[in-house]
Amino acid sequence: MLEFHYAVPVEQTGWETQDRSGTVRFRWDYDAERAELLALYDKGKRKQWDAADRIDWSLEIDPENPLQVPDEAVPIFGSAAWERMGPAERAEVRRHMVAWQFSQFLHGEQGALVCTAKIVQNVPDIDAKFYGATQVMDEARHVEAYGRYLTKLGLAYPINRHLQALLDDVLTDSRWDITYLGMQVLIEGLALAAFGLIRNQTGDPLARALNAYVMQDEARHVMFGRHVLRAYYPELSTAEREEREELCAEACWLMRDRFLAEEVWERLGLDVEDPGSLP
Ligand SMILES: [Fe+2]
Ligand SMILES: [Fe+2]
Repeated sequence: MLEFHYAVPVEQTGWETQDRSGTVRFRWDYDAERAELLALYDKGKRKQWDAADRIDWSLEIDPENPLQVPDEAVPIFGSAAWERMGPAERAEVRRHMVAWQFSQFLHGEQGALVCTAKIVQNVPDIDAKFYGATQVMDEARHVEAYGRYLTKLGLAYPINRHLQALLDDVLTDSRWDITYLGMQVLIEGLALAAFGLIRNQTGDPLARALNAYVMQDEARHVMFGRHVLRAYYPELSTAEREEREELCAEACWLMRDRFLAEEVWERLGLDVEDPGSLP
């Protein structure tokens, strides 16, 4: 049982959206032939790990600087607001930033879990269903791992509204490839970069181990999306491909806005538009 203290009230602890995919696809030829996908499936099976015992959860987190990174990593570092803060207030900013960041990882992982289950159901080919099944387990493990981390940190944030909007776009689309494009390529691709940044910068052994292990799985997930779409997209018309391009551009705006961390600045009493300025 995870014990979260949310930094801001969660209006609803549940969220429902429409799954308009409407199609469940079965295959009777069991034609699992694509060597690249089968190799990935094989890897997915062999590289399973247990978050409960692979990561040393007895490691303590420094509440004043959870990631053990220099203050230059704080977005408002050097600003007027930052300069006016004392050590306790700065520690609070660091802790809230990490709580917010890892909470978005946690909620994003739940999104990945749901999207991958949907992929297993909708994708036409059996080899992609096989691989997708290994990823469902990976994503459950990631939810577990980030949930444990946040429980140790003792603070969490609700899902960011831009991330939720993006998940909603991906989940409500009826075209199976959009789940791949939105989740496997765009959201997973960005997550991989964010996890990598933390793994490389953090001086905290728990955060480093957690992100390093999750990254090993995420690299396969991005590869999965690329393999499947590379085979499928040449079959689409120019107009259909242009629709996908537009969707990518919109998703990039939402992902950019998600990184503004508006709710953290609001919670800390700073100016949401310009958090470094003095109120
Ligand atoms: Fe994941
Ligand atoms: Fe993933």
